Amino acid sequence: MQQRWQKKKKHFPLISLLFFVFIAFSIFWSESNIRVIHQHQARNGQKQRQNASLLSSTPSHSFNLSNKPPVGLDKFTTCASTVRYSGRRAVSAVLWEESGGRRAVSEVESCDFFSGKWIFDNVSYPLYNESQCPYMSDQLACHKHGRQDLGYQFWRWQPRNCNMKRWDAVEMWDKLRGKRLMFVGDSLNRGQWISMLCLMESVIPRDKQSITPNSELTIFRAENYNATIEFLWAPLLVESNSDDAVDHRMNERILRPDAILRHSSRWEQADILVFNSYLWWRQGPVKLLWSNDESGACEEITGLGGMELAMETWADWVASHVDPLKKKVFFVTMSPTHLGKYEWEAGSEGNCYNEKKPIDDERYWGTGSDLPTMRMVEKRLARVSSKVTVLNITQLSEYRKDGHPTIYRKFWEPLEPEKKSNPASYSDCIHWCLPGVPDVWNELLFQFL
Ligand SMILES: *[C@@H]1O[C@H](CO)[C@@H](O)[C@H](O)[C@H]1NC(C)=O
Ligand SMILES: *[C@@H]1O[C@H](CO)[C@@H](O)[C@H](O)[C@H]1NC(C)=O
Ligand SMILES: *[C@@H]1O[C@H](CO)[C@@H](O)[C@H](O)[C@H]1NC(C)=O
Ligand SMILES: *[C@@H]1O[C@H](CO)[C@@H](O)[C@H](O)[C@H]1NC(C)=O
Ligand SMILES: *[C@@H]1O[C@H](CO)[C@@H](O)[C@H](O)[C@H]1NC(C)=O
Ligand SMILES: *[C@@H]1O[C@H](CO)[C@@H](O)[C@H](O)[C@H]1NC(C)=O
Repeated sequence: MQQRWQKKKKHFPLISLLFFVFIAFSIFWSESNIRVIHQHQARNGQKQRQNASLLSSTPSHSFNLSNKPPVGLDKFTTCASTVRYSGRRAVSAVLWEESGGRRAVSEVESCDFFSGKWIFDNVSYPLYNESQCPYMSDQLACHKHGRQDLGYQFWRWQPRNCNMKRWDAVEMWDKLRGKRLMFVGDSLNRGQWISMLCLMESVIPRDKQSITPNSELTIFRAENYNATIEFLWAPLLVESNSDDAVDHRMNERILRPDAILRHSSRWEQADILVFNSYLWWRQGPVKLLWSNDESGACEEITGLGGMELAMETWADWVASHVDPLKKKVFFVTMSPTHLGKYEWEAGSEGNCYNEKKPIDDERYWGTGSDLPTMRMVEKRLARVSSKVTVLNITQLSEYRKDGHPTIYRKFWEPLEPEKKSNPASYSDCIHWCLPGVPDVWNELLFQFL
């Protein structure tokens, strides 16, 4: 089901409308998840927990798991019961660990691209024009949605001890010729994918570019390079009840910590893979439903514990399936949030709303970037260090409190007057405006290809 974006708009207005409604819904569902994060992390939780049944478009339904073999999780999956986590691990991951995954032999990197500072540069930036990118998302198009201070578009990342190669879309396409580049992860990773499309599309003639409708796997194709830039929705990496790209707002997160095939079968043919996973693990405990457990009983585990099991399974896949001469794999570290202004300005209220400049304290690190998670990720990645390149965007993005959409994005729920009168109360301090910070993540990716 390929379609030409432009042509479709002109000739098939109804289908095009449906497509946009589809996208709107998908972003709405992501948004409802983000609200949960907001609520979870809000310091003095004035906000009410949302009534999840209002957000669910489908009646809840339970498989009789005691009768059926596990056929894969979906949004209808429920736990027959829940017990505490038993300490169990995925078998292959355990074996692999016992056989002693190789320790990181850290290559002498000529440059640490990830430490440095932001330099105001309104000559070279932004790298594209928000209103001219046909793939722009209403969740990220801040200027379109009323943001007047455009300073956030003009910052260049300057590593401390070296320079980055200048962004060049044609050179990037040459690297991608005949290849599939796939982003896999959550809505932050989707933002990076959209940034990449906007960075890349302008040099492809309109009749040579096409995109498939938004779904679990969305594919942008550039015919003249026989190349694709794709996004696979897999917020928890492993199989889960939140894998539906549109309807993934679940009351509880249920995952199969030992099952990755459903996703890996879709990504294994890609030549360049860019993974992320983080914020979805920050919303409280998750439930594990092991593949061979026929009782349907779930084990409850902390988000961090669940993420570690998922990372083990993922790293196990990488260790056994990735030939670094044929496939490049990247892991993007956690994307910071700016939910509490007191963190960079002691004693103040509010959040990232109305922030116009990056933080210039080089040691700044916010509480949204969980250090135990970072240490766990580091440990898991060290075992596959010869096969995975880390895009360590956390510190550099920490500085960019000015880069979030705040109120300047599309909100699909009507805003109550009390909220409207208090913009900070509904500001999005999680995603990033485009053009903006994710463009730099992609420039970093460009350095390593
Ligand atoms: C959520 O809404 C449903 C009706 O849509 C209602 O039956 C239920 O009690 C509500 N739950 C809470 C926690 O407010
Ligand atoms: C579910 O499984 C139990 C136990 O095998 C059985 O007694 C019950 O009838 C099943 N329910 C349905 C709806 O199939
Ligand atoms: C860049 O910023 C400087 C200082 O704010 C301003 O004087 C100049 O006009 C700007 N240039 C462009 C091209 O926007
Ligand atoms: C972006 O494109 C719009 C529409 O073509 C144009 O009005 C605007 O000046 C452009 N902005 C920049 C910064 O080039
Ligand atoms: C296009 O790229 C695919 C790999 O993504 C390759 O299998 C195919 O042979 C290529 N086609 C042409 C015409 O080069
Ligand atoms: C990323 O960089 C931070 C310092 O900014 C460091 O503490 C952390 O260990 C790094 N993470 C990984 C996975 O390399």
